[in-house]
Amino acid sequence: MKIEGSIALVTGANRGLGAAFARGLLAAGASKVYAAARDPASVSLPGVVPVRLDVTQPEQIAALARELGEVTLLVNNAGIAEFRSLLDPNALDALHRQFETNAVGPLRLVQAFAPILAGNGGGAVINVLSVLSWLTMPGSGGYSASKAAGWALGNALRQELKAQDTELLAVHSAVIDTDMGRGAPGEKIAPEDLVQQAIAALQAGQPELLADPTTHHVHAGLVAQPRVYIGASS
Ligand SMILES: NC(=O)c1ccc[n+]([C@@H]2O[C@H](COP(=O)([O-])OP(=O)(O)OC[C@H]3O[C@@H](n4cnc5c(N)ncnc54)[C@H](OP(=O)(O)O)[C@@H]3O)[C@@H](O)[C@H]2O)c1
Repeated sequence: MKIEGSIALVTGANRGLGAAFARGLLAAGASKVYAAARDPASVSLPGVVPVRLDVTQPEQIAALARELGEVTLLVNNAGIAEFRSLLDPNALDALHRQFETNAVGPLRLVQAFAPILAGNGGGAVINVLSVLSWLTMPGSGGYSASKAAGWALGNALRQELKAQDTELLAVHSAVIDTDMGRGAPGEKIAPEDLVQQAIAALQAGQPELLADPTTHHVHAGLVAQPRVYIGASS
């Protein structure tokens, strides 16, 4: 899909990777970028159109779809990470919140905007996932499960959207240098770098982007011995 002339809706666009997507899409020639945020007043980027959206609120998604009939690119970026043991008494509450935000919300957005994308010639969806769609570690179980669900839903949606010429790009990366990535050890990918790669992947018609060496390594580890998701033996 060509970014030039596109009209994008980016969720969670007030900070972090979402703000970088909004900036990057404008720089790549998007005609308009709707920057969605729970609090639209927190969107400070010049040149975008702030709109209100909590991705866990179906009525807000429906209202936005009624309002934004010109969208050609949906970027499902908003996400939360709550790292805690699955054995924690509050693990299920955290699991529900992460599924609602990271998997169900993006699905609701695709459901609501699919007819709009179809009416505007097909367009595309970008789903921001994670290397943790494929890898778990103690404490990441709930987040990983929500991103794995987002991955599986996206794989099914990609096939279903094909009939209306809508592409779906899944973006997987390891730690990104944002608020969410703060405190994580090791190398971090710059949000601007990831966005440039995502734009290039979308323009090349790729279904999937593995944005950094760690993500490539983990993906390869799915079929290696020992399997990467089994975890280190002690
Ligand atoms: N950072 C990493 O290391 C990393 C790695 C791989 C993948 N990712 C994924 O990348 C995406 C962006 O994350 P980030 O690193 O930019 O995180 P971030 O800095 O924590 O920003 C998260 C964004 O999501 C928004 N958000 C959270 N819940 C929302 C909801 N219910 N409705 C609407 N917006 C909501 C936040 O809005 P508020 O300001 O209102 O909270 C914020 O704009 C996420 O999907 C994340 O899972 C991140």
